[in-house]
Amino acid sequence: MRIDIITIFPDYLAPLGLSLVGKARDQGLLDIRVHDLRDSTHDRHRTVDDEPYGGGPGMVMRPEPWGEALDAVLAQHPDPLLVIPTPSGMPFTQSLATQWSRRPGMVIACGRYEGIDARVADEYAGRAEVVPVSLGDYVLAGGEVAALAIVEAVTRLMPGVVGNEASVTDDSFAPGAMEGLVEGPVYTRPPEWRGHVVPDVLLSGDHGRIAAWRREQAERRTGAMRPELLEG
Ligand code: ADE
Repeated sequence: MRIDIITIFPDYLAPLGLSLVGKARDQGLLDIRVHDLRDSTHDRHRTVDDEPYGGGPGMVMRPEPWGEALDAVLAQHPDPLLVIPTPSGMPFTQSLATQWSRRPGMVIACGRYEGIDARVADEYAGRAEVVPVSLGDYVLAGGEVAALAIVEAVTRLMPGVVGNEASVTDDSFAPGAMEGLVEGPVYTRPPEWRGHVVPDVLLSGDHGRIAAWRREQAERRTGAMRPELLEG
C-alpha cells in the first residue's frame, strides 16, 4: 500500500518508522512518504496560511500550496483516495479502516489552524474520493495525530502486518461474533497478583464456557462504557 502524507510538520510523523508500521515498511508491504507542504510555497516566508474571509479568529490554510502538493502526489495514485482529517468530518470507524485497508493507497492532507480553504476539497472531488474524517468529538491542534491513528488502524488490517490474524478479527468493533461490542477484560499470568485473581472460567479449559463468559463480559462492558452501541 502506498500512503502519502502532506503536513507542515513532517517530524510529527516520525513514529511511523516504529513498531508494526515500521516493520511493514521495512518488509516492503507499505510505502509511506511524508511531504512538507512548505516545499510547495514560493514566497520568502514559505507562507501556508492567511486571514479568513468574512473575519473571525485564527488563520486558514491557503489553497495554492495545497493545490501544487496534491496535484503532484495524487498523480501517483491510480485510484486516488484523499483523506482530510478535521473535527467536522464523518466519524472514522473500524468499518472505514477495513474498507481502506483493501485499497492500493491513500493521500492524507493534514490541516492546521482553522482548517484548509474549502475550495481544495471541491477541486479534488472530481479526481479523487475525498473523505473528511474526524477521530472524535474534540479538537486537536492539527491533522497529524489523526493521520497517525488512521495509518495505524488501516495498515494493521492489511494481510501480513499483524502476526496473529485472529487478534485482528477479535478486535472491538470488528465484524463477527462480537460485532458492535467492545472487548471485555483480558488476563495473563500470574493467576493471582496483589490479591486480584483471574476469573476461574478462564483457567477451566472449557472453550464453550470461556466463549460465553467473554461474550457476557463484552456486553456488560459495552453497556457500562458505550450504552449507545447497544441501542441499535
Ligand atoms: N483535526 C483537529 N481535530 C481533529 C479531530 N477531532 N479529528 C480529526 N482531525 C482533527
